[in-house]
Amino acid sequence: MKTMTFEVDGDGVALISIDVPGRPMNVITPEFTADLTEAVEAVAGDETIRGAIITSAKPGSFIAGADLKDLVTAFDKGMTEAEAAEFAGELSRLFRRLETCGKPFVAAMNGLALGGGLELCLACHHRVLSNHPKAIVGLPEVSVGLLPGAGGTQRLPRLIGIPKALPLLLQGKQIKPDAALAVGVVDAVGAPESLVDMARVWLMDAPTAEQPWDRKGFQVPGGAGPLAPHALETFSAGNALVSGMTQGNYPAPPAIMSCVYEGTQVSIDKGLGIEVKYFGKLLAGSVARNMIRTLFINKGAADKLAGRPKDVPKSRVAKLGVLGAGMMGAGIAHVSAKAGMEVVLLDSTLDQAEKGKQGIAKLQEKALAKGKTTRDKVVELLERITATDDYALLEGCDLVIEAVFEDRGIKADVTAKAEAVIPESATFGSNTSTLPITGLATASKRPKQFIGIHFFSPVEKMPLVEVILGEQTDDATLARTLDYIGQIRKTPIVVHDFPGFYTSRVFGSFTQEGQRMLMDGIEPALIENAAKMAGFPVGPLAVSDEVTLSLQQSIYKQQDVDGLDDKYRGTLARPVVDKMVDELKRPGRRQGGGFYDYPENGQKRLWPGLREAFPPAAEQPDVEELKLRFLYRMAVETARCVEEGVITSPIDADIGSILGIGYPAWTGGTLSFIDTVGVREFVATCKRLAERWGPRFEPPQELQARVEREEGYYQAMKAA
Ligand code: NAI
Repeated sequence: MKTMTFEVDGDGVALISIDVPGRPMNVITPEFTADLTEAVEAVAGDETIRGAIITSAKPGSFIAGADLKDLVTAFDKGMTEAEAAEFAGELSRLFRRLETCGKPFVAAMNGLALGGGLELCLACHHRVLSNHPKAIVGLPEVSVGLLPGAGGTQRLPRLIGIPKALPLLLQGKQIKPDAALAVGVVDAVGAPESLVDMARVWLMDAPTAEQPWDRKGFQVPGGAGPLAPHALETFSAGNALVSGMTQGNYPAPPAIMSCVYEGTQVSIDKGLGIEVKYFGKLLAGSVARNMIRTLFINKGAADKLAGRPKDVPKSRVAKLGVLGAGMMGAGIAHVSAKAGMEVVLLDSTLDQAEKGKQGIAKLQEKALAKGKTTRDKVVELLERITATDDYALLEGCDLVIEAVFEDRGIKADVTAKAEAVIPESATFGSNTSTLPITGLATASKRPKQFIGIHFFSPVEKMPLVEVILGEQTDDATLARTLDYIGQIRKTPIVVHDFPGFYTSRVFGSFTQEGQRMLMDGIEPALIENAAKMAGFPVGPLAVSDEVTLSLQQSIYKQQDVDGLDDKYRGTLARPVVDKMVDELKRPGRRQGGGFYDYPENGQKRLWPGLREAFPPAAEQPDVEELKLRFLYRMAVETARCVEEGVITSPIDADIGSILGIGYPAWTGGTLSFIDTVGVREFVATCKRLAERWGPRFEPPQELQARVEREEGYYQAMKAA
């Protein structure tokens, strides 16, 4: 056996200790499945063995789940649903064999047990969990478009009842040991070093090797089926909740509901069969493939800085300078201090800088009140941040990030002042959201060390950072910037220096499409609902209010001054923005109202005057057409970014679209969306949309050429 050790002691207790080689955490691979099969048969077939303890040799972690890299290929290999179910059924059958082989098994869970790892434990007859601070358990499959396919949807409800199991299955929540014990997922919690002893004590007590659900007359705790007391809430209301949340875009949650509803009314064996059938359906579909590829595999690689120039030595930022202590600057200082860096937070006055730091202190107090940090940690974090108006304190900074007003003159001024103090070797980053990096770098004495580091608001919550290469930015600067992003545990994408870069440009195509719909006479509520039905977290009008229409207007004005090419700007919907700001005096949420009203103590609602300002047409288009406009508009703009060289990696384009600008996760990102629709069909639909709604939907040449080559973005990458 390569992935586990197998020892039997004098009492006939087998200890199976999992240690998948070459992996920081144990994952379920084909070798693991083969080894565990052998181990189970060894226990079952040897009369001298009383029972077995399964644990892991990796400190703090039991099993992290299935190796998703194996699963993602199912779709690409063109597996049918039945083939995918067969493929997934192997593990399910192994776990069933384990629990019915006649010998008792105990899971000594020495830490994190997720997905298939927890499902293995659920198949064991007893579970003891370590109270290690990093120990968590959960079934997070839903977050990558799957369901727990090795018994999770069947054993968990049979163990703890349907009402308690559903939230864990549907939300993929990961819970700590005390919660796991309270909800009944594990039988006991103990110190990591005493787990195996606890398991042994249980085994020596000559326990039964029969699961409760295999006993005659077994009832699911709290009942199952349409007549269960909880059925109205769990199934009827639950289904409505699920369809409201998924809008039909995510097949996994309804499949989980079906597994639980159908599977708990029949025997466990039949239930497992139902589960594996639904699992096969999901695995053979495009949503799971796209979500696993972008949100798990590729995001994981990006987090490990896959695109980092290799020959530059690894670096660390010990001291960071942040210029501008406003909303963004304070956020950047906050996440960096949290990651252990010493931070100098500078603004034009000490008062302004202090205000920025006070904002951070408030957020820390909130986190403390929620039990997410400790008083000592808060004090230490705040001690690491120095608020100042004195440039001299920037001495010794490894990296400086400016987040002052979006004004070239001011940015040039602070760049020169900072560079007069910081070491020759330091990197200088700009958090500008619109100004070309190459232009800003002319204010720098060291343009090779000048780079765009574009955060998203709120910095504390948004996981993405868009790195922008100026014309002269060198590899060492890119590598150091990526190292810094790794330090603050965010996900980087790398793009080139074009107006709007990548994310702002594609995001603009979304808000402008929504605003344009107003001009087209479409009902405001229909616009917002169509976007949400397509899977966007917020409608284009609501998000325009957040960004503020006045900011959008000032960007347009700056673009006038710069004489920017039309293709980079939203000329189409500009009349809406001008009218809202200048005529109707509704510039956005922060200024009291925009497309929406924001009552002091109540829910925001669409401003009633909107229908008068932009009268709806008598005939309204189909909502499906509006969904297409949002999804296609952003995808075709991404394709244009690829053609122009704004972005070169489909992986970065996809990650950026989901993590930064709210493109629906079920698509796998803007370019995965095109690939999944198929380039030929995508281009044909674009042409139809262009004819009906305007040339902004016209597919770029580079994309049209792909139709002839029958080559999608990911296929193209494989060939390269
Ligand atoms: P803000 O107005 O909240 O903060 C700007 C800060 O810079 C203020 O505290 C101001 O006192 C300070 N400042 C101005 N001139 C200064 C000078 N000469 N020396 C030192 N400090 C000075 O603005 P916000 O939203 O934080 O934006 C800052 C930068 O980040 C801008 O370049 C903006 O385009 C960019 N950005 C903004 C995003 C957003 O969602 N607000 C998102 C991504 C980037």
